[in-house]
Amino acid sequence: MNIEKDFFFDKKQNNPLNRVDGRAKVTGTATYAAEHQVSNLVYGFLVGSTIAKGRIKSMDTKSAERADGVLAVITHLNAPKIPGYQTGKDPSKPPTAGQPLRIFYDNQIYYYDQPIALVIADTYERVLDAAKLVKAQYDKEAHQTDLEANLSKAKAPSGPRKEDYKRGELDAYKKAPVKIKQEYYHPVEVHNPMELGSIIAQWEGSEKVTVYTKTQGVESTRNSIKDAFKLKPENITVQAEHIGGAFGMGLRTWPYEIAAIMGAQKIGKPLKLVLHREQMFTNVGYRPETIQKISMGATADGKLIGITHEATANTSAYEEFTEATVNITQFMYACPNVATRYRIVPLNVCTPIWMRGPGEATGAFALESAMDELAHVLKIDPIEFRLRNHADVDPEHNRPWSSKHLKECYQMGAEKIGWKDRKLEPRTLKEGDWLIGYGMGTGSFGAMRWVATIKANLQSDGRLLLQCSVNDMGPGTATMMTAVASEAMGLTPDKITIQMGSTKLPPGPMQGGSNVTSTVGSAVHDVCAELKQQIAALASKEGSAFHKAKAVNVKPEDLIFSSDGVALKKKDSVKITYNELFRQNNLKTLELTKESKGQEQPYSMYSFSMHFVKLRVHPATGRIKIDHVVSCADAGTIISPKTAASQMIGGAVGGIGMALMEDLVVDHRFGRPINNNLADYHVPVNADIPNIDVLFVNKKDPFTNPMGSKGLGEIALVGVAPAIANAVFNATGKRIRTLPITPDKLMEV
Ligand code: MOS
Repeated sequence: MNIEKDFFFDKKQNNPLNRVDGRAKVTGTATYAAEHQVSNLVYGFLVGSTIAKGRIKSMDTKSAERADGVLAVITHLNAPKIPGYQTGKDPSKPPTAGQPLRIFYDNQIYYYDQPIALVIADTYERVLDAAKLVKAQYDKEAHQTDLEANLSKAKAPSGPRKEDYKRGELDAYKKAPVKIKQEYYHPVEVHNPMELGSIIAQWEGSEKVTVYTKTQGVESTRNSIKDAFKLKPENITVQAEHIGGAFGMGLRTWPYEIAAIMGAQKIGKPLKLVLHREQMFTNVGYRPETIQKISMGATADGKLIGITHEATANTSAYEEFTEATVNITQFMYACPNVATRYRIVPLNVCTPIWMRGPGEATGAFALESAMDELAHVLKIDPIEFRLRNHADVDPEHNRPWSSKHLKECYQMGAEKIGWKDRKLEPRTLKEGDWLIGYGMGTGSFGAMRWVATIKANLQSDGRLLLQCSVNDMGPGTATMMTAVASEAMGLTPDKITIQMGSTKLPPGPMQGGSNVTSTVGSAVHDVCAELKQQIAALASKEGSAFHKAKAVNVKPEDLIFSSDGVALKKKDSVKITYNELFRQNNLKTLELTKESKGQEQPYSMYSFSMHFVKLRVHPATGRIKIDHVVSCADAGTIISPKTAASQMIGGAVGGIGMALMEDLVVDHRFGRPINNNLADYHVPVNADIPNIDVLFVNKKDPFTNPMGSKGLGEIALVGVAPAIANAVFNATGKRIRTLPITPDKLMEV
C-alpha cells in the first residue's frame, strides 16, 4: 500500500514515524524471552499425557532420571506444593468459573497433552532426549472433544458476564415478511505466533524470583505468580519487553510458566522452558469452536424487524471460558427486537483463550454473513441494506456514540474497491474461467481506556525518557508513545527513549482489548502536559529571559516547545534552552510520574471498521484467489500512521486465514489434534496475500481520551472473514457457512 497516497491526512502524517524498534527487531538485537543471557542455566521440557481423560495410574521416570545430564523429573508424585493451588481459584485468571489447571497437582487428566512431567537437564538436547523416556500408565475414561456430539450438554455460563439478552419482542423475526434462518460454524483456530511460549525463571533465595516470559502484561503475570507462590509482589520481577506475536495467547499465565518457576526453585538454578511447536496447539489456548444460529427478519423494503443470535462454544472440562460472540449483534444495527444467547459445552481440551477480536470476530462472521444473506433475498445492495439499518445511536444502551463514522467507511471503501462494478446477482461477473465476486463485512470493538502511569525524565539536552511497564507484541507501542510525546513536547523523535516491559517500571496495562494507544498514549499525553506546565512555570520565574521580556505567568499554550527548549509564541526570538533553564533552576533533570485514567462518559464508545474484498473463484478446482482487500477504519485520531496501517494489514491477513485456511482438526477417537504443526495447520503465506489497502477516517473522537483515538487492533480483523465469505457467494452463488472455505466446498464437478 501507499501510505502517502492513501491517507486522508494532514501534512504531519504524510511523513509518518518509522517503527522506533524496527531496526532492533530486524537486526536481532531486540531480546525475546528465551534469548536473555543468564548464566548457570538449566533446561526444562514438558512431557504430555497421551490420553484425553482419565487418571495416571503409575509413572516410570527411572530411565529419564538416569539419562545423561538429567537433574530432576518432576511429576504429581514429587512436585513441590504450590501454596496457591491449595486455596482454589486465582482471581487474576480470565475464565469466569472453575479452577485453572493446577500443573502436577494430582493424577487427573483433563485433556490430551496435558503436562504430566517436567524433565530438567543441563542442555536442551539432553532434556529433549530424556523426556522421551518418561512413561505413564493410565486409567482411561471416555473423553469428549466433539462439540457437535455434545450439544445436549450446552449450558449457560455460571459467571455473570454472559446473560441472555433481549430487547423488544423475543423471536420477532418470525413475524417478518422476509426472513432467513441459518447456522454458521467456526472451527478451532490457534494463535501460534512465531515466538513459542518461552520462559526463563531465576530465583534468588526462596522469596524472590525474576522471570523473562512471553506475556502481554507483566503486571498480570506478576499477579498470577504472586497468587500461585504467595510471594510479595515487590519480590517478583517480570520482564517482557518484546514479544514475537501473541494475538491474545499471552493474556494469561499458563501452567507451563508455573512449572518452570517450580522447576527452577527445586533445582536452585535458573531454568529455561520453551514449548515445542506441537505444544502450542494443545497447551496455550485457542479461539474456541463455535456453532451459531442466526434468525433475521425484515420488511420488504429492508428495515430489520428482529434478530435472534445464539452461539454455542466449547470450554474445557475444568474452567468456563466465555467471550463476546453474540454481543456485536446487540448494538450493530437499529433493530427493535434483538435476542442473543450464549452457551458453553465443556470438552476434554485445554481452556480456550481470547484471540484477536475475541468473540466479536466469530460473531461478526455469522452476523455479517446473515446480513448479506438477507440483503440477497431482499434484492438490496448490501451497503444500502446496512445504511437502511444504520444505528445512529447505540440501540443496546440507548445512548449516543462518542463518535461513529461507519458511513464514511462504507463510502471510502466502496470507492476504493470499485464496488460499483459489483453485480447484485451472484455468478454474473466472469473473467475467462474465473468467477469474480465482491463482498463486505463490518467490524466493531469497544474503545476502552484503562489506567497507566508514566515516569517522564527530561534532560538538559532535550532528551526525554518515558517509562512504563506496558509491552509490545507487535502493534508498535513504543512508536505510538514516541509519536504522542514528540507532538506534545515538540521534540524530534530521536530525542525520545521508551523503556517498557518490566514490572520495575511504573504500572501500565496489559496489551489486550485494543486499549494500549488509548490508555498509554493518554498517559504520555498527560505526563507531557504536566511537564510543560512545570517548564512554563520555571521559564517565567523572575530573572528568566521570558521575565525580562515582560512575559510573566506564561502558560504552555503561550510557548513553542522544541528540541532546543522553549520560545515565546508572541515573539519567538525570546527563547530559553533546556540547558539554561535547568542551570538557572539548579536542576539536573526534570522528572515526574503521573497516573492517568479516563472518566465515565455518557456515551457508547466503539471503533468501527469496514472490510471490502474482491476475489475470484475457479469453479473447476475450487481455488479462491483474493485480488484486493480494502480495510477502512473509524478509529478516531490515528496517532502513528505506519504502525496503525501495519495493524490493519495484519488483521486482514489474519482474516484471510480465518476465512480460507485455519482449522484445527481433532481426531475424536483419541481426542488429539492431527494437524498440530505449521505444515498441516495452514495460515496464509505471502503468495496468498493480495494488495491490501488501508484507509482511515481519522476523525478525532471528542470523548475517548485527550488524543481522540480509538483502538484498532481488533477491528482490523473483525469483519474480514464474512467479507470474504460474502464475496465467495457473490462470485459463485454458493453460500459457505462452515469455515474455513476450502476448495472442496466450491469445486464443481
Ligand atoms: Mo487481544 S485477544 O485482547 O490480545
